[in-house]
Amino acid sequence: MTDTLIRGRLLTFHADPEDSADSHRYIEDGGLLIREGRIAAIGEVPALARANPDALQIDHRPHLILPGFIDPHIHFPQTQIVASYAAELLDWLNDYTFPAEAAFAGPAHAARLAGAFLDLLTAHGTTTACAFGSSHPASVDALFSAAEARGMAMLGGKVMMDRNAPAGVLDTAQSSHDDSRALIDRWAGRGRLTYAITPRFAITSTPAQLEAAGALAAAYPHLPVQTHLSENRAEIDLTLSLYPQARDYLDIYDRYGLLGPRSLMGHAIHLTPREIARMAETGTRAIHCPTSNLFLGSGLFDRDGLRAAGVVTGIATDIGAGTSWSMLRTLDEGYKISQLRGQRLTPLAAFHWATRGNALALGMADRIGTLDAGTDADLVVLDARATPAMALRAETIGTLAEELFLLQTLGDDRAVAQTYVAGRPVKKTDRRAE
Ligand code: GUN
Ligand code: ZN
Repeated sequence: MTDTLIRGRLLTFHADPEDSADSHRYIEDGGLLIREGRIAAIGEVPALARANPDALQIDHRPHLILPGFIDPHIHFPQTQIVASYAAELLDWLNDYTFPAEAAFAGPAHAARLAGAFLDLLTAHGTTTACAFGSSHPASVDALFSAAEARGMAMLGGKVMMDRNAPAGVLDTAQSSHDDSRALIDRWAGRGRLTYAITPRFAITSTPAQLEAAGALAAAYPHLPVQTHLSENRAEIDLTLSLYPQARDYLDIYDRYGLLGPRSLMGHAIHLTPREIARMAETGTRAIHCPTSNLFLGSGLFDRDGLRAAGVVTGIATDIGAGTSWSMLRTLDEGYKISQLRGQRLTPLAAFHWATRGNALALGMADRIGTLDAGTDADLVVLDARATPAMALRAETIGTLAEELFLLQTLGDDRAVAQTYVAGRPVKKTDRRAE
């Protein structure tokens, strides 16, 4: 197969801009040599083109090329309930979420929505996501089949939930264990797919089911575990009433062996100092879901507090409580939450977070999240002049940081000129690559 040389203004991170003055590499006339879905080389174009005269060149200048965005917390069966009016989390789950997820018992519905879900992700420049399925194994089969057909690096699992929800979405402790294990046998490690053990949250799991989830986590220690933690006050009160022996919310998951560097806690807003210290001690990840947290009025994530304590964080859409599929919109809302907290999220730190930062949170930075040679060629091409308002604003900017901030503040899927998955352009667009 012919090599491809993708040309543009390249930006990739090798360290967190908040930890290091030397955090990124920017190449004004940069090239990525793509061979068999991987980045074979990165460099200045004149030299790279001279060394690879047979490579097919695709020129995206003057656009920026970054690693594809990563969304580490999203619900695949909630694609159709974004923008559903609700007072707060528990109402929203009961009124919209559980009924919508019940429909994923049907394989045809699941297959149609899986394709739509992945197309929406890539249209917004997201090339990898860690997704909750519904409780039905067929939802994960649909998601993984569609991801495999597209060559996408996708993580996901069937939610385990055996109480406090309608019958149509409930499993049992035993069936959730057995169904998860069968899905692991079928999918884990196949191509670019990763199975995630997925107890929904403590409210919808009996102790027996969390024990089953813990048994899976012990049996498959290399697999991620994803769940929800301390999203809102009413949720926390109900949770603690269901697990009266637990010291706090995090302690419930701790007792069942569900913490560790492969564990991803969605939201993680209203935490006690003990919980934060325990997350840091165990390496458990906190995933910020800004548009969701503002939409449901859940609370303001304490990014700096968690970071200072040594907790690794990620940033995600949390579709369908999240209100945008775009990681640009998500960074914008994350920035505003930092503002309300009196914290500073710089543009470089924001774009690091949505790429290498999320890859680190998922433990996948050796494969995705950077433009390093040897990693998978998942890319997003960003156009800071995509709309009339952006183009006018762009006339007045001079630095890379200003351009990134413009993209995050005014950008959405219109600013995504192209998305590459394993070296292949996947965004349907009538623009020519200029
Ligand atoms: N907590 C448990 N399930 C969910 C969910 O689907 N969305 C959100 N935002 N929080 C949850
Ligand atoms: Zn969620």
